[in-house]
Amino acid sequence: MEDVLTALENQQWRLARTPTGALPVADDFVWHETRMPEVQEGQVLGRTLYLSMDPYQWVRRRSGTEQPGEICHGRTVSQVVASRHREFAEGDYLFNTHGWQSHGLTGAGISNFGYMHPRKLDPQLAPLSTAIGIMGMLGLTAYAGLIVQCQPRPGETVVVSAASGGVGQVVGQLAKLRGCRVVGIAGPEEKCAFVREELGFTACVSHRDPDLPRALANACPDGCDIYFENVGGKVFEAVLPLLNKKARISLCGLISQYGNTDKSDPRIAWRARGERTFAARQVEAHDLFVGNYVDTYQQPFLEEMGAYVREQKVSYREHFWPGLAQAPQAFAAMLSGDNFGKTIVTLA
Ligand SMILES: NC(=O)c1ccc[n+]([C@@H]2O[C@H](COP(=O)([O-])OP(=O)(O)OC[C@H]3O[C@@H](n4cnc5c(N)ncnc54)[C@H](OP(=O)(O)O)[C@@H]3O)[C@@H](O)[C@H]2O)c1
Repeated sequence: MEDVLTALENQQWRLARTPTGALPVADDFVWHETRMPEVQEGQVLGRTLYLSMDPYQWVRRRSGTEQPGEICHGRTVSQVVASRHREFAEGDYLFNTHGWQSHGLTGAGISNFGYMHPRKLDPQLAPLSTAIGIMGMLGLTAYAGLIVQCQPRPGETVVVSAASGGVGQVVGQLAKLRGCRVVGIAGPEEKCAFVREELGFTACVSHRDPDLPRALANACPDGCDIYFENVGGKVFEAVLPLLNKKARISLCGLISQYGNTDKSDPRIAWRARGERTFAARQVEAHDLFVGNYVDTYQQPFLEEMGAYVREQKVSYREHFWPGLAQAPQAFAAMLSGDNFGKTIVTLA
């Protein structure tokens, strides 16, 4: 097998330059073909099957954390095609972090960018793509922010923005399973209908509604006890007046601010805007970094979510883009809302 592999080219997207635009464009990326990497002792070579498109990748690229010339970072599901690792055999399926490339190494000496360590996947337990979605970092983000930080109680009203997306759809369903009243905020009516009808949220309003504050207030007659923040900007403005005394917020993301020309951390301006309301109403606003929750919560999360997936107590929607060549378009679509559900590039 290894002889065949060394004859193959490894296809990659690399960062061409540090992007300056509000959204990614084709010139930010460069296609690269290179020889297959050699598998060293303690490593496996995997063929990428699924590649995750996430907003944080844009933050890394624009901030210079990812440097021009580097393989674009991304979490992946892969199948082992050559192994010199005692725990992983040829044919095994793995969650790992190959980045935007057709093949990659996992194991000794390979950095996996900190959190969500490589692990073997059982395709009988859950569809493989869920390892980069509901059963992966996105699911853990929802679990950490909602369950660990905000501790929902039955009957409370939970508001979640970017409700039809990868994180948002999990947050709302976990809240529903905890007996909460769940109100989503999404863009187009098609997404709002999906959130209400397929995910079973109590209500979903559109952030495109010219009177969003009124629409949201109507959907939250008892105010908001928990806000799961994915968006910021005018969506946060609409939620602020609805926060109840002792409300909790998980500040997960601020996607509406990721294209700002001002490169300061948007969390600072967000906190400054909320400060008076938070103090007056004793609101707890928690910063969320999923990486801080892996060691303690990955296992309980996988057990709880694995049971929900097996028992079909949760639904999830994935938006597949076929072919590594489409990764830059898929990435831009995800950031601009032209996605519907968790955005995944398929290579198989
Ligand atoms: N804290 C952490 O550790 C952590 C980990 C993972 C993700 N996150 C954050 O979680 C959030 C959701 O990530 P995801 O991967 O699940 O993405 P996603 O929700 O699947 O996709 C992004 C969605 O954001 C919405 N959006 C984009 N621009 C917007 C704008 N200007 N105003 C309102 N909505 C806008 C769009 O939905 P509509 O079409 O409905 O507008 C789009 O579909 C992001 O903020 C991300 O940074 C944080």
